[in-house]
Amino acid sequence: MNNSDACILAIESSCDDTSAALLKGHRVLSNVIANQLVHQKYGGVIPELASRSHQKNILPVVETALKDAHTDISEVDAIAYTQGPGLPGSLIVGSAFSKSLSMALNVPLIEVNHMQAHILAHFIEGVHQEPPAFPFICLTVSGGHTQMVLVKSHFDMKIIGSTIDDAAGEAFDKIAKLLGLDYPGGPLVDKLAQEGDASRFEFSKAKVDGYNYSFSGLKTSVLYFLKKSIEEDHLFVEKNRSDLCASVQANIVEVLMQKLEKASFDHDIDNIAMAGGVSANSGLRKALLQRQETLNWKTYVPPIAYCTDNAAMIGITGHFKFIEASFSGLGSIPSARLKF
Ligand code: KG4
Ligand code: ZN
Repeated sequence: MNNSDACILAIESSCDDTSAALLKGHRVLSNVIANQLVHQKYGGVIPELASRSHQKNILPVVETALKDAHTDISEVDAIAYTQGPGLPGSLIVGSAFSKSLSMALNVPLIEVNHMQAHILAHFIEGVHQEPPAFPFICLTVSGGHTQMVLVKSHFDMKIIGSTIDDAAGEAFDKIAKLLGLDYPGGPLVDKLAQEGDASRFEFSKAKVDGYNYSFSGLKTSVLYFLKKSIEEDHLFVEKNRSDLCASVQANIVEVLMQKLEKASFDHDIDNIAMAGGVSANSGLRKALLQRQETLNWKTYVPPIAYCTDNAAMIGITGHFKFIEASFSGLGSIPSARLKF
């Protein structure tokens, strides 16, 4: 076996999706995701329920991934798993499972940083004709993080900006809840925004230094605006939901793009990528593509299946680490606040 053609079994369990994937080199053979619908009625992820659901899902998800990939478990050359960041109780399930399997199969174990993996999803075969050339800037926007990352090589990544409070996805989800939408609200806001008028409502935009972001002020400004408006008309939200979604989405997209433009200009880098669950947002994808015309950017947006949490991105990161023989021991522990 050539090192760059290894068969990697990847496990992702950082939050509320249990996922397993099989990769052969850069190629994804299967990518199975079990979403946990149990959280919907609570309006957010309940860590204890997430951990229990991972325990229930992990074996069937791995079995399905092997079956879909027409791969026997004996063909697996290494196991890559999410070490962090994420919910401790969720991470521990994937970590314990991966360690046990690596011992049973006698294959190396590879620990993966979830946020690096979101970025490296751009290198999965078939995602782009050509993957982004180094250096590039990646805006990683998810439910737990909002990071502007300067990517100089597969593992030389520097966070040059991040949120000082809520993540962009968190802002989408919390505001969606105020608008009476289910969890996760981001995709629902996106859908309704497409029928709404983004210029109808103006909400505050935080002024934060450098390439950092803040979204908690937007959430508060929507909250107070809705309180006042509902006092005057108790059906205000029902009557204006699409326009409210469009206005909120436009606000978040504009803030994200302003900082991205600044980083691109300051670093003189025109290769711009996006990653993470919020990069599935149609408004954000459109805004980035527009910069291809207006600013001559070379833009990279992953397909939606590789924007939200998935094990294929853990697998591609495992692939690059396998080539470098960057393996980990059984003693390493998952880290909720893992940095890179
Ligand atoms: O990366 P991800 O799947 O999980 C984390 O690592 O957090 O991101 C999930 C986040 C959620 O906040 C979800 O509402 C948001 O991504 N999201 C979206 C869209 N699809 C997912 N936000 C806005 N528009 C979307 N289309
Ligand atoms: Zn994620």
